[in-house]
Amino acid sequence: MREEIIKQIEGYETIRRDIEALKKYGYDYRIDRGEAMQAVERLHPSTLCLRVVDIIEETPSAKTLRLAPINATLPPFMAGQYISLIVEIRNVRTTRAYSISSPPHCTGYYDVTVRRVSEGFVSSYLLDEVNIGDEILTSGPAGNFYYNPVIHGKELVFIAGGSGITPFMGMIREIAQRGIDRTVHLFYGNRNDDDIIFHDELLEIARKNARIRYYPVVEHPSKSWNGLEGYITREMLLEKLKTIDGKAFFLCGPQGLYDFIEPQLAQLNIPRKKIRREMYGQPSDVTRQSGWPADVAASREFEMRVEGKGVFTAKAGESLLASLERAGIVLPSLCRSGECSMCRAKLLSGKVYQLPVALVRKSDAIFGYIHTCAAYPLSDVALECD
Ligand SMILES: Cc1cc2nc3c(=O)[nH]c(=O)nc-3n(C[C@H](O)[C@H](O)[C@H](O)COP(=O)(O)OP(=O)(O)OC[C@H]3O[C@@H](n4cnc5c(N)ncnc54)[C@H](O)[C@@H]3O)c2cc1C
Ligand code: FES
Repeated sequence: MREEIIKQIEGYETIRRDIEALKKYGYDYRIDRGEAMQAVERLHPSTLCLRVVDIIEETPSAKTLRLAPINATLPPFMAGQYISLIVEIRNVRTTRAYSISSPPHCTGYYDVTVRRVSEGFVSSYLLDEVNIGDEILTSGPAGNFYYNPVIHGKELVFIAGGSGITPFMGMIREIAQRGIDRTVHLFYGNRNDDDIIFHDELLEIARKNARIRYYPVVEHPSKSWNGLEGYITREMLLEKLKTIDGKAFFLCGPQGLYDFIEPQLAQLNIPRKKIRREMYGQPSDVTRQSGWPADVAASREFEMRVEGKGVFTAKAGESLLASLERAGIVLPSLCRSGECSMCRAKLLSGKVYQLPVALVRKSDAIFGYIHTCAAYPLSDVALECD
């Protein structure tokens, strides 16, 4: 009887034939589903428990935390990807993304290089309170900011600002240490010369590898500085690169870097597909973003009702994700830049400002879902969080 009913299902015959064919000629993956699942979990774990095995002082404001696995192996990653550190600071559980600055062939550890952000919640904690021997929970490697040989060719222009050097460092170390056939032109902007992370190592790499060209640029140089000064401009790019033809551009840094350099690249008529841009978290001042209503101050407070959880306060200038975390409500989060959609919630009522960079799926937008890491309240709001 059951067999007869199943046969009525549309497509039954085709599926039955496919399964028979797989059994006869191919490989039926259901046989070792357990092993396959274990392999998937090892390569793409949802969380990793890592130990801080070394702390390297890079500059007065930046340190590298070397993180090694506890009782496990590290999943592989592509140079340029990041991990998200999951921390609990004074009863607030939160996450922050950090690019892996070590190269992928160093399989025993991940380096993350953290620069202090003025009054930064997590960067200050990582720099001041984390010690060698501490355990840190992280996500597995994530992100799409990496080299693709099919699209990017062999001539790469890296434009970094401040701590935005970290994904490039993973890529450059991989190219230099493994002798990969690729040319890199690195333009690296910093406010002062003593802010330049990895400066000595980059000079040394460039000295030993003719294919890696390093152009540090300092906005407020000291008297002893004898390199490039000011901002990275299109004139500077043209002077050093000679031509932009055949080159792929990668950008990573704080919002100010993108605001300045993207119009410069546009004037050089570089096709959009030749420019890759890493996201870099939430803007330091959302009220300066285009489309922010002039009559809403960052300090304005609104009511945030969360279905089944209670009523809390949310500040206009702080993402809903941060306000939820302050209230003790933890949503999964990875990029905190509006891209990965891990932190989505349903907006039941109220008005929010959603950052223009947020990648909300069309269907999500239709049904009222928002990315809470990239959404800021403009009125009292009601949310439904899974
Ligand atoms: C893909 C990616 C890669 C990155 N790689 C690097 C890297 O390699 N190196 C690096 O230095 N940075 C990197 N960043 C930036 C990094 O993720 C952090 O944004 C940066 O370190 C600043 O974090 P912060 O918490 O110190 O500062 P902020 O995020 O600016 O912290 C202040 C914010 O924390 C929240 N906050 C403050 N107090 C509280 C509280 N009590 N409870 C809850 N919330 C609170 C508020 O919303 C406030 O706006 C990367 C970002 C991305 C997206
Ligand atoms: S954490 Fe990635 S979209 Fe919000």
